[in-house]
Amino acid sequence: MRALQLTGWQQDPELVEVDDPTPAPGEVIVRIGGAGACHSDIHLMHEFPAGLLPFDPPFTLGHENAGWVESVGAGVTGLEIGTPVAVYGAWGCGFCSRCLSGWDNYCENRAEYKREGGGLGFDGGMASLLRVPTARHVVPLGDLDPVDAAPLTDAGLTPYHAIKRSRHLLVPGSTALVIGAGGLGHMAIQILSAISPAQIIAVDQSEAALALAKTVGASHTVLAGDTAAAEVRDLTKGRGADLVLDFVGVDATIQLAVASARPLADVTLVGVGMGSYPFSFITVPYEVSLQSTYWGSVNELIEVIALGETGKIQAHVERYSLEDAPKAYAAMAAGTLRGRAVIVP
Ligand SMILES: NC(=O)c1ccc[n+]([C@@H]2O[C@H](COP(=O)([O-])OP(=O)(O)OC[C@H]3O[C@@H](n4cnc5c(N)ncnc54)[C@H](O)[C@@H]3O)[C@@H](O)[C@H]2O)c1
Ligand SMILES: [Zn+2]
Ligand SMILES: [Zn+2]
Repeated sequence: MRALQLTGWQQDPELVEVDDPTPAPGEVIVRIGGAGACHSDIHLMHEFPAGLLPFDPPFTLGHENAGWVESVGAGVTGLEIGTPVAVYGAWGCGFCSRCLSGWDNYCENRAEYKREGGGLGFDGGMASLLRVPTARHVVPLGDLDPVDAAPLTDAGLTPYHAIKRSRHLLVPGSTALVIGAGGLGHMAIQILSAISPAQIIAVDQSEAALALAKTVGASHTVLAGDTAAAEVRDLTKGRGADLVLDFVGVDATIQLAVASARPLADVTLVGVGMGSYPFSFITVPYEVSLQSTYWGSVNELIEVIALGETGKIQAHVERYSLEDAPKAYAAMAAGTLRGRAVIVP
């Protein structure tokens, strides 16, 4: 089969011919319906130097996957061939206390494992078939279409986790600020609308992204720039936002995030822009918590899929063939993509 692989650091991916995977005991082979293109792949391919991550190329890209069960290895029971499934993407050891609670994204044996998941060290979903190491990582999709559902596994799951951990702050009259209304951000706005009464303000540097933000539920939109923090203050009666989600993570957006935060707020860094901010008594409003989050748990993916089944969240999907996948990344890097690009092999 053909696969879009990263074959070396700091370079474009290549379409290569690889063997079809066959399932070893305990494994599941998924026929890919859709594999989302995430901005993390751009960081991975072009921005991270060799040695920064615990794994090395070559591997097939695509960590946001859904499709149908193609075959199962010995010992896998209860999964019918042809079942539409989402693939949970953070593959941990399976036996540490975090993995056993469903938090494979925070596996305690990650350092020994030297891979993060399919598309992140292991072969991912930008190919016809994906090898999933355990049936624990496939979640039935019900009536959802795998192409539309693929983004739920990352663009949906990552913001869902970041929002859920701060849900106690999202009371009536509160504000959630979403910085970066792209693949993750446009899903965050829908999740906030679906599970909280907070007013939602979206900030982006692209007018087109802000237009999509408005369509999917943002109460207000603000163009990124010098006056953005003041505009957020105005829209919150001077108080600031109770939850700030930064889906960009460069110096400028973290500064905006902190400047927009209300005392007692959570400022959650999801974007991998590698910016930083000086944390001190004076530079951060009182009792604001700063944290980063990485993906979500498999249990949360089940909840995201349930939310998807209600129709309350749906990725705005732009479809690309496997051959055109590099064009999807180019559009994302240029900032012209709206919502999520999904590769349909
Ligand atoms: N922490 C995690 O678990 C996790 C998971 C997935 C993605 N990510 C990261 O989240 C970030 C977003 O990913 P995505 O796939 O949604 O990307 P995307 O390219 O689809 O969206 C990014 C959005 O941010 C906007 N933007 C860029 N720079 C901006 C700025 N300075 N000010 C305001 N808006 C700006 C863009 O116009 C775009 O709308 C990436 O850094 C990605 O690596 C993190
Ligand atoms: Zn991702
Ligand atoms: Zn583990």
